[in-house]
Amino acid sequence: MSELPGGRINKVVRVGDTVRRRPPGRPDEAQALLNHFEHHGWTGAPRFLGVDDEGRQILSYVPGWVPLPRLTRQPADRLVAPPGVWSDESLAGIARLVREFHDLTAGTPFAEDEETRCHNDLTPNNTVFADTGNGTYRPVAFIDWDDSTPGPRIHDVADICWTYPSARFAPDRPEPRAMGRLMRLMCDAYGLADCSELITTILDRHDGTWRGIADLADAGHPGYQLLRELGAVESGRADHEWTTTHRAELERALRDG
Ligand SMILES: Nc1ncnc2c1ncn2[C@@H]1O[C@H](COP(=O)(O)OP(=O)(O)O)[C@@H](O)[C@H]1O
Ligand SMILES: [Mg+2]
Repeated sequence: MSELPGGRINKVVRVGDTVRRRPPGRPDEAQALLNHFEHHGWTGAPRFLGVDDEGRQILSYVPGWVPLPRLTRQPADRLVAPPGVWSDESLAGIARLVREFHDLTAGTPFAEDEETRCHNDLTPNNTVFADTGNGTYRPVAFIDWDDSTPGPRIHDVADICWTYPSARFAPDRPEPRAMGRLMRLMCDAYGLADCSELITTILDRHDGTWRGIADLADAGHPGYQLLRELGAVESGRADHEWTTTHRAELERALRDG
């Protein structure tokens, strides 16, 4: 048994080909969602394999490379990405994976009366990248489905258009024009018909993220208190400010490609 690095909210351990974790709240819906994906043969998420003697979720271990969160106390060994992780092709692959699970849940009870089922936490550190055979890495699966809810497609699209391209520039701030081009690339790969609300949605999501962390930390949740100590609230506010400052350039690049 080995503890997997990267978990800041959950302690996650690997046991053979499985992962054991105890998510907060009621995991039933997220587990049913994983079963739905399995039923449809979609391999972009771990399989839910049951509950162990200690009451932990058993999930299939998805082999590959998972980036460490930028804000972490753990050694920075996984901050250097293998080849191809931040390539245009990988970013397009992220968008296609999102499109696949959105289409698999739209119109089902998982979407309730919303457009689809959103993952709501699509970040590099919840993504498994795997070697395609020639040493080039591509995204293969998303993990950490606990926060998924019914929602509009653009919520997840806005998140991916921010989190993955900005990871490509990290630790520097993105270059706005290049960032806008990558956002456009991801919207096109997803097939988002109308990008006009994208930047507004990204700004709302930045706000929601830092406020959510602050609220849960205030409510005494240790995982979120750690995130706050690591600077996640300031970081979310800074992302919002950067996006506001560069909005016009981002929108121009989004329009012109
Ligand atoms: N099914 C899985 N396959 C492979 N690695 C996993 C899997 N689930 C979790 N991990 C690893 O464990 C770490 C933390 O898991 P995660 O479920 O994202 O926890 P947290 O809720 O704390 O973010 C991830 O960064 C990843 O390295
Ligand atoms: Mg995670």
